[in-house]
Amino acid sequence: MTRTVWRIDRAGSLDRLRRQDEALPPPGPGEARVRVEAVGLNFADVFACLGLYSATPKGSFVPGLEFAGTVEALGPPGAASTPAPAVCEGDAVFGMTRFGAYATALNAPARLLGRIPAGWTAADAAAFPVQGLTAWYGLVELARVARGEVVLLQSAAGGVGLLALTILRSLGATVVCVVGRETKRRFLISERGVAPDLVLVRDRRRFGDELDGALSAAGADGFDVVFDAVAGPFLEPAFARLRPRGRLVVYGAADFMPRGRRRADPRLLLKYLRRPTIDPLSLMTANRSVMGFNLIWLWNQAHRLPEAYAALERVCTEPPVVGRRFPFDEAPAAMAWLKSGESMGKVVLEV
Ligand SMILES: NC(=O)c1ccc[n+]([C@@H]2O[C@H](COP(=O)([O-])OP(=O)(O)OC[C@H]3O[C@@H](n4cnc5c(N)ncnc54)[C@H](OP(=O)(O)O)[C@@H]3O)[C@@H](O)[C@H]2O)c1
Repeated sequence: MTRTVWRIDRAGSLDRLRRQDEALPPPGPGEARVRVEAVGLNFADVFACLGLYSATPKGSFVPGLEFAGTVEALGPPGAASTPAPAVCEGDAVFGMTRFGAYATALNAPARLLGRIPAGWTAADAAAFPVQGLTAWYGLVELARVARGEVVLLQSAAGGVGLLALTILRSLGATVVCVVGRETKRRFLISERGVAPDLVLVRDRRRFGDELDGALSAAGADGFDVVFDAVAGPFLEPAFARLRPRGRLVVYGAADFMPRGRRRADPRLLLKYLRRPTIDPLSLMTANRSVMGFNLIWLWNQAHRLPEAYAALERVCTEPPVVGRRFPFDEAPAAMAWLKSGESMGKVVLEV
């Protein structure tokens, strides 16, 4: 069959993205062919197209890490050791893929697809697996956030951020939210019920004071967990306010996003040279931990995915917030919107 994809011949510039038709082979052993209805965008898609993501494929590739749609066909059974697929033809499913989701149809390992929960749209479901698992893995598996702990959540109005907020509430944590713009602060207060004293707009000149104000509003003398994907100059003031037994989880570096549509940006070298550094020996004295992860590692541990989805669904009790939808044909505009730093919730392409 023929499908339409967004393909980039070589990472380095968003201007190299091209829409094209190409053949999709029948699903192989253990695979399902999914007619894609919605594609979830991730900040990593932008970094990948710019060539700033460590896992970016060499040469030509189709970006995209997550999708939702309908199973159209199942391939022949997989190897005897492969578990039977959890889905049938006609099922509404969501899934993750190591690139290749910016497509109107794709083949994916059938056992790694999840059924779309009742009442969710395809856009909701495409907004769920990567960002949900990121929030779940960082907060539950790594940081092991416990009831009553105080957590600093950067980019709280973003795709990962809003799911992290839902998870943290279900864990019984107190959350101090940080965002980059006043519009997002207002959104968190009015739409997500965050107390005004517990959401702040980052200001690099007085970030430490802002954190102290929020901590005093929370009645706390420090953070138990800092969940950070911005890095840059904001990381050290937050780290300095970790309590004994505090955990810093680093899972992104949005501050390193170039201003333009190309990778080349001399400011990045300067930012790299000034990046935060933490002395491991100081961790013992202060009784703190630093952790980091990249979810793409889960692809090498794919057998854990069904269990991870189930654990995520237990703590993530409501559908993700889809902030803006773009038609599939407008993928470059959707990526530009996500890259701008203005987006709230998930950005989704609809086929
Ligand atoms: N390690 C992993 O496995 C993994 C997996 C998924 C996502 N991530 C990371 O998690 C973060 C959130 O991902 P997401 O897909 O949910 O994106 P998102 O939070 O919806 O959007 C990215 C946000 O980054 C913030 N930001 C800070 N500095 C920026 C800059 N210079 N340019 C543009 N935006 C900037 C903006 O929010 P504010 O200004 O409000 O902070 C922006 O809205 C990203 O850094 C991503 O790379 C990591």
